[in-house]
Amino acid sequence: MATPEILVLDFGSQTTQLIARRLRECGVYTEIYPYHLSLETIRSKQPKGIILSGGPASVYDSQAYHANPGILELKIPILGICYGLQWLVHSLGGRVARARSQEFGRAHLENLQNHPLLAEIEPSSVVWMSHGDRVEVLPPDFQTLAQSAHAPFCAIAHTHKPLYGLQFHPESAHSAQGGRILANFARLCGCTQDWNMQDFLAQQIQSIKAQVRGDRVLCAVSGGVDSSVVAVLCARALGAQVEVVFVDHGLLRAGERDQVVDMFADLQIPLHVIDAQDLFLQRLKGVVDPEKKRQIIGHAFIEVFENKAKELSKQGAIKWLAQGTLYPDVIESVSLKGPSAVIKSHHNVGGLPEKMRLKLLEPLRELFKDEVRALGARLGLPEKMLARHPFPGPGLAIRILGEVTPPSLELLRQADSIFIEALHTEGLYSEVWQAFCVLLNVFSVGVMGDKRTYDNTIALRAVVASDGMSAHCAPLPLEFLERVANAIINQVSGINRVVYDITSKPPGTIEWE
Ligand code: XMP
Repeated sequence: MATPEILVLDFGSQTTQLIARRLRECGVYTEIYPYHLSLETIRSKQPKGIILSGGPASVYDSQAYHANPGILELKIPILGICYGLQWLVHSLGGRVARARSQEFGRAHLENLQNHPLLAEIEPSSVVWMSHGDRVEVLPPDFQTLAQSAHAPFCAIAHTHKPLYGLQFHPESAHSAQGGRILANFARLCGCTQDWNMQDFLAQQIQSIKAQVRGDRVLCAVSGGVDSSVVAVLCARALGAQVEVVFVDHGLLRAGERDQVVDMFADLQIPLHVIDAQDLFLQRLKGVVDPEKKRQIIGHAFIEVFENKAKELSKQGAIKWLAQGTLYPDVIESVSLKGPSAVIKSHHNVGGLPEKMRLKLLEPLRELFKDEVRALGARLGLPEKMLARHPFPGPGLAIRILGEVTPPSLELLRQADSIFIEALHTEGLYSEVWQAFCVLLNVFSVGVMGDKRTYDNTIALRAVVASDGMSAHCAPLPLEFLERVANAIINQVSGINRVVYDITSKPPGTIEWE
């Protein structure tokens, strides 16, 4: 296993993984651990530097989180970010107090010194703030490197020890030069900065082998990028120990099953295809409630998988389930203090691991979507598959408002493939994060060839996003939307109206259910 050059100690910030991501971008391998990692373990990893993340607590609270103060004696560079900075200041004899006015959002960083931590950072640059506390008094021997309107000690450094602090979040995409500041810190640590996705691949293969040893693994693929990358990665690491299973639940898009089958055939990875269309459609009969649909689909998945796993177990017990969980999936469902609010019950193969006592193998849980695509490219997955938009596990069922029936699925499939094809033809597909049609089950009056129609409405949805956690309506040209609307109405019998959804997330969600 590679040893991390920088350790990130996590105090529970929502953006801790972004710190690791930004460091990966500048060629530094990092590992994230809870803030209370023992000094002994830290020493054994021989890091070249430590970053203390932000977090929701206040250092002066009785419930405050404290890292082991022994890290301050390790003589390696330490960078505290937000709460991490406040913890450094508090631990070294400075004072942190509740700020008179909290600071959330953009602020202007005024770079006061030509310090190596802020090398090549403009005199004034935009940074992202998110704090209620602030430093009031610096500890002895600290100097101010930069200030902002509400944070006089916005960037600080010890005068002769390698201890640094930033009140803002350099890992946020909103901090214009944040990546450069983290790269500067990596330089101060003496990092080699030569890590890349090929190294990640090699590490993951080793780590999967070490975790799984001789056990057998079940891997569910949906046809999407994430699960396909996991399946290929596991197959590369474990060969015939992996059983890759694809369930056709009848809620797929036009041609999707064939595409998946062809891709795995090309990659020479055996694929078990289970045709469970009748079971899923039967269970969904008469169901209109979105959460109920999701639960039914989730349970049916578990059932189908359980049966297949039992069958496959005859050749040797299956002990692991490999899943394509990405970092944004983790952050939407977990926090340091407990689970965050459930907006929609996201469906992977949830429930199966506990029920069957399967251990979870989630090799992508630290990555963001674009990193998964880069990894997929290294694994030899076709570009067309890697560029595919995300597709939800419950498939078209959550894009049909109301009851899911074979005729409604057919209408939606036809309209959707016209929209997606047009995006490809006009070079717009890769401009959007996700695009799809929704069948509204809303009927309206129209006129076609002098005849009155009373038919279905399709909503086109296209969003721009960086990770799906927030999104905006994609500004597709009106003429393009009109061409798509005409094509759908002319080619799909039963649809006489097309609308474009312009809702952002939040307050909307990307999917309609
Ligand atoms: P929402 O609708 O919550 O979707 O804004 C955010 C992203 O997640 C996808 N999505 C899912 N993916 N299982 C999945 O694997 C699900 O149950 C699920 N529900 C939503 C959605 O397509 C978007 O990319």
